[in-house]
This record gives sequence, structure tokens and C-alpha cells, in this order.
Amino acid sequence: MPLVPPYIESLRPYEAGRTIESVRQQYGLDRIAKLASNENPLGASPKAIAAMTRTLTGLNLYPNGGLDLRQVLAREFDLKVENVIAGSGSEGIMSNIIRAFLCDDDEVLTTEAAFIGFQVLARSRGVKYRTVPYRDWHYDLPALAAQINANTKIIYLANPNNPTGTIFTRLEFDDFYKHVPERVLIILDEAYFEYAKDNPKYPDSMHYRYDNVITLRTFSKIYGLAGVRIGYGFAHEELIKNLLKVKLPFEPSSPAQAAGIGALEDKEFLHRSLEVNARGLRTLSAGLEEMGLPAVPSQANFVMTVLPSEQDAQRIFEELLAQGVVVRPLKAFGLPNCLRISTGTDEDNRLCVDALRRAYATNVGASHAG
Ligand SMILES: Cc1ncc(COP(=O)(O)O)c(C=O)c1O
Repeated sequence: MPLVPPYIESLRPYEAGRTIESVRQQYGLDRIAKLASNENPLGASPKAIAAMTRTLTGLNLYPNGGLDLRQVLAREFDLKVENVIAGSGSEGIMSNIIRAFLCDDDEVLTTEAAFIGFQVLARSRGVKYRTVPYRDWHYDLPALAAQINANTKIIYLANPNNPTGTIFTRLEFDDFYKHVPERVLIILDEAYFEYAKDNPKYPDSMHYRYDNVITLRTFSKIYGLAGVRIGYGFAHEELIKNLLKVKLPFEPSSPAQAAGIGALEDKEFLHRSLEVNARGLRTLSAGLEEMGLPAVPSQANFVMTVLPSEQDAQRIFEELLAQGVVVRPLKAFGLPNCLRISTGTDEDNRLCVDALRRAYATNVGASHAG
């Protein structure tokens, strides 16, 4: 048996988006718009920063495993604390789910080109990873239901989805749920919940609970705390109890936990972030469409576009980079001819559309003219 199992050997380390500093240095630019990782362009919630700062005098003490945040979340969402878990980002909790519940012969089922964080975690467990194609860039829930077999253990659904930005509705989910046996765990990843929650068709999974569904949410996006690593999950207390057995005892850190509690109080920051995002979606979608490029209708804080070919996507990505606009090529997700653009500040978005116009004129537009 080799030291490294084949399913680990075949993985590639996660490639994060380019940092602002590395792009600035490579191209000698002053202004960089980083629109590659679905981060909040307004910075972090001020109440989160204040709460986090207050913990700094107690850094010599071990944290309490997220209990304070779990209590606050339980109150906020009218649940028992036993139904809530907090972790190092929602990916931290996903990793615990995979460790706690997957055995060697189990299978994972999801859509093609699912959120890459989940792909990597599931594949690193060495179990069979099965997917069904998108339908019009949406999860094809009936096709997923038809693929459930005796070995299916986990179904992963992100709503809104990353990288497409699309949602499935409450009616669609309820229909799907009827086909899912109780022994199958559904991960409902709601990392972008806050951006979609005002859409009346969006199924806020806190308004109904199923015993085999775990909802995951995060402070990384709308609250601007991606660098802190704090997320949470809601589920039946049996599921949470078993997750708590495998969780690192001292995650999340005490500053992270405090930041989460502070962020929940920051309704002003939430509203401001939603407004900036709504304007960003309008600007980016209109800019893409003006060039004849599709903007997949998004309910999140990013827009996906589809280029004629992988080469076009790569050329546009590089051309934008050279103009100081960092977007996300989706080859690693499994969509080599697509790009994902996160919303930025109003100025970032304008910079992006202008750069896109120039890049498109010299690349795709020119090569496809006539
Ligand atoms: C669908 C989805 N889930 C989870 C995450 C990760 O969130 P966190 O920072 O809480 O680990 C992301 C981040 O991009 C995401 O897009």
C-alpha cells in the first residue's frame, strides 16, 4: 500500500484566487478590483470587528468550542442549542460531516461543477463521487432524485449555487425531498442565503426542518468575515451530537466566535451590503449582456458568464488581470469556458465592465467577428 492513497495523489491543492498584492506587483498597477472570491467589497462588519477586538485580551485562554455563538444562534432562530453547531467556516463543518458520516462504500451525489470546496473535501475521502448535469445552469433535482441508489449517503445542494448563482425553489425542493430516503443526508449549503432570502420563491430552510437535512451558513460572505473562518449549521440534535464528536474541540477560535456574534447584530451593515450587491449585479449583468455575453441570472453576490470556448475564457481572464480586474476562471470547478465575477464596490464594477469591454473587443469580439 503506498503512503499516499490514490484518491489523495490524484487531487490538486486548492488554488485560491490571486491576491491583490501579487497582481499589483506583476502588472505595476495602483488600482486592483478583486472580484474573484465572492467576498464583501465593503470590508468586515464594524460590529464584528469591535466584538472581535474585545476578545484580544483573553487570547491566552482556550475557547469554548463555539458554545456562546451556538446559544446566540439558537435564540435568534428559535431552536435548541443542541440543534446548532459552529465551526471554522462552513467548509470546516462540511469537513466534519464528511469525517463523521461517510464510510468507504458510501457515495456522494451532487450536480456537475459543484462548489469546489465540497468537491475537494468529498474526493479526499476516497468515496464514489457522482454528479448529474445542470439543466439551464440550475440543479436538476428530478435527475438527482433518479440517481439515488442504495449506496447514496450524502446529497450536496448549494442554494444559491456557486458558481452559477441560481436557486431552486421551495416547491422544487419539496418535490425532490419526497424521493430521498431518510438514511440519506442532505447538505443544504446556504452560504449565500442572505442575498436570496427576500426572493419569495427562495426556500429559507429555517422555516421548515427535516431530520436528514443539515443547513450550513457562513459569516464569510455578507458579513465580510471570510478571513476569520466562522460558519454555522443547523440540524437534528442527533446529527449535531455526532458532528461535535469529530469537531476539533477548540474550533472556532474565540475571536472568530465573537465576530460572528457581533455580526449578527449588525443589521445596518447587512442592509448596506445587500444594496451594494444589488447594484453590482445590475451593473455586471448589463455590462455582459451589452457585449452579447450571457449573464446567468444570479441570486448571490456574483455572476457567471459563458464564453464561446476555453481559450476565450482564458484570454479574457488574462486581459482583465492585466487591467487590474481579478475574476475567477471556472476550469477547476469543471466549467472551462466560464468565468465568475463577484460584485464589488460601484467603482470596482465600473472598472470591471470597462475592462471587459476592452478585453472583449480585442479577443472574443474580434476573433468571432464575421
Ligand atoms: C457554496 C459555498 N459554500 C461554502 C463556502 C465556504 O464558506 P466558508 O468561508 O464559510 O467556509 C463558499 C465560499 O465560497 C461557497 O461558495
